[in-house]
Amino acid sequence: MEKLVITGGNRLEGTVEISGAKNAALPLMCTALLTDEPVTLNNLPRLADITTLSDLLNHLGVAIAIAGGKGLMMRGRSLTFDASHIADTVAPYDIVRKMRASILVLGPLVARMGEATVSLPGGCAIGNRPIDLHLKALEALGADIEIEDGYVRASAPNGLVGGVVRFPFVSVGATENILMAATLAKGTTTIENAAREPEIADLALCLSSMGARITGAGTHTITVEGVEELSGTTHAVMPDRVEAGSYAIAALMTKGNLLLKNARANDMQAALDVLSEAGGIVEVEDDGVRVRSNGHVSGFNIVTQPFPAFPTDMQAQFMTLAAVADGASVITEAIFENRFMHVPELCRLGADITVTGSSATVRGVNALRGAQVMATDLRASMSLALAGLVAEGQTVINRLYHLDRGYEHLEEKFRRVGANIERVND
Ligand code: UD1
Repeated sequence: MEKLVITGGNRLEGTVEISGAKNAALPLMCTALLTDEPVTLNNLPRLADITTLSDLLNHLGVAIAIAGGKGLMMRGRSLTFDASHIADTVAPYDIVRKMRASILVLGPLVARMGEATVSLPGGCAIGNRPIDLHLKALEALGADIEIEDGYVRASAPNGLVGGVVRFPFVSVGATENILMAATLAKGTTTIENAAREPEIADLALCLSSMGARITGAGTHTITVEGVEELSGTTHAVMPDRVEAGSYAIAALMTKGNLLLKNARANDMQAALDVLSEAGGIVEVEDDGVRVRSNGHVSGFNIVTQPFPAFPTDMQAQFMTLAAVADGASVITEAIFENRFMHVPELCRLGADITVTGSSATVRGVNALRGAQVMATDLRASMSLALAGLVAEGQTVINRLYHLDRGYEHLEEKFRRVGANIERVND
């Protein structure tokens, strides 16, 4: 089993190249299902989740090739997805269970093929995470939905028909699913209370370049005028705002100075505001965002909310920052009901954290101490790595498969800017 071994105490300085965003790449890959022409995506991160979705698309009949190269290879920054021949409209349990975002094939498949059957993703480590909003939205576009034997089957043999989708609360995935589906529906679809995350705008940009007619992406209300067919395209995946935010915290915690190359400040303003409040110095440069420390970290309060407010995907990492801040911080998780599993692990490293309901009170301590810890989910893994960077002695993180789902070349990136970190196999 692989482990990450970190010896804390090093100051980080230099440039970290921010990769393409996992959460943008996954829906972008699914756009290929909407057209019989090739879709090429540049700036794809090399991550386990990208491989999992590639496996699923491949299973459905999508040919995947390194852009400009030969063969069916999963690894590479630019991949071409060719869905000219869809061989199967069933997304099987064995692949879907590995990654919830597999549900994103449902909307495009039913829009293009008139039917799709996708295994229910099931619960996951950070809560129940149902898909009812995805299904109700597809029903609003005329799809029949049946759930049987752990699978959801959506059918619209005569095609989807535009309609009004009014989400009762914001869902990123449901907005993406219905946005893709609506591009091929007959007539106009209005999506109200749509998610406004930058990944939605990136998806709309790609779909528009394929010929989709979309207005309002990035606002509460998105309007889609359906078209008969979409063409292929080439699109570059936006930079990963969660990865950038995570390295920004590393700069502050190690009293360092990092240029987050490619990062876009507008995509991560809420996180940057908290960093500044905590004592970070944030500067927007031509090719990215620089974060450095003013020498100390102060406590802060956070409530996670949909974009443009503070993102749930940064909650765990900011908790590590709070753990070594001067004074107390209160961190409230308002998106997922069970997203504090990193707390006991951080406490093993000496953090002082009390959880009451959906809020955690973090009292800053003078120092964390290295220990064996276990990564419980993707962002929680990063919170432990950040803790390891400043902890006294050695921190060993087990269960690296969570990290590998979402952080490209983590140890190389940290090592290049001065961290003492290595992956070992025992
Ligand atoms: C996406 C991101 C994830 C991020 C989350 C919130 C991807 C691949 N993943 O996940 O990293 O943490 O947005 O920013 O982009 N909900 C329902 N019914 C539904 C759908 C969602 O009740 O049908 C609930 C969820 O349980 C959750 C809330 O809505 O409490 C928001 O979830 P959602 O925005 O859908 O998250 P994902 O799209 O799964």
